[in-house]
Amino acid sequence: MSARLDLRGWSRALQPTLPDPDRLPQGLGPQVRAAAIATWRARMINEHGSAPVFEALAQQAAAAGLDATARELAGFAHEERHHGALCGAVVEALGGEAVATIEAPTPVPGHDEVAPIEALARNVISVCCMSETIAVALIDAERLQMPQGPLRTLLTAILADEVGHARAGWRLLASLCEGERPALDADARVRLWAYADVALEHQRAHQHAHLPLASRPPAAAAAWGLCDGASARTLCDDTIAHVIVPGLAARLGPAPR
Ligand SMILES: [Fe+2]
Ligand SMILES: [Fe+2]
Repeated sequence: MSARLDLRGWSRALQPTLPDPDRLPQGLGPQVRAAAIATWRARMINEHGSAPVFEALAQQAAAAGLDATARELAGFAHEERHHGALCGAVVEALGGEAVATIEAPTPVPGHDEVAPIEALARNVISVCCMSETIAVALIDAERLQMPQGPLRTLLTAILADEVGHARAGWRLLASLCEGERPALDADARVRLWAYADVALEHQRAHQHAHLPLASRPPAAAAAWGLCDGASARTLCDDTIAHVIVPGLAARLGPAPR
C-alpha cells in the first residue's frame, strides 16, 4: 500500500542557499535542475525510510537485553528522519516540493530461527556494517567533489551521522565476539558468515540498482550532488571488497571455506 510523504513544513525551514543551475552554460540548467530534484527527492524517501529500520533494530536490541544499544539505535531513527527533511530541503531550494508517494516499508526480518542476539547481529551486519558503511563511502566521495558552500555543509552533517551509524554496528559486532565466552560463539559466527555472503550479494545488487550506469552528468553538476554512476558503482564494490569483508573477518574470524 502506498502513502504520501509530505516533509514540506519541516524541509522549508532548512533550505540551503544553492547556486542557480540556470547559470550553467550550454542550456544545461533545466536538465541539471530536474536531475538534482529527482536525486534529492529519492534520497529524501530513502533517508526517511531508514528510520523504521532503526526502530526495528532498537526493539530487537531491547529484546536481546542490550538497553544502551537500543537507546542508541532509537536515536539513529531520529537522525534518519532529520536527514530526510534535509534532503527535502534541497528539493525545495531547487524549486521542487518535498513530497513523494512512498510504499509501505518492508518489514525488517526477525530471524526467529536463531537466538535474539544472533538475530540482532544479522540485521546490524546488514544495516550498519554493509548499508551504512557503503553510504559513508558514497556520500564522502560526493562531498569531496562538491565546492565549499551550504550544500557541502549539509552533506557533511549527514555524513557525520552516517559514520556514527556504521561505527556503532562495527563496535557492537566486535563486542559480541570478544572475551572468553563471547555472546556470539564459534557456531554462531559460522552461521553469520553464511548470512553475510547472501546479504553482500543482495547489498551489491540493491546499490547498483540505485547507481545507474546511464547517470553521466557534466562535471559542473557535482555542485548539486550529481555524480557519475559507473564511478559510484566501482566505489561501492571497492568498499565491499576492501572495507566490509575484511571488517567482518576481523570480528567474526576468517570466512569459512
Ligand atoms: Fe541517513
Ligand atoms: Fe544512516
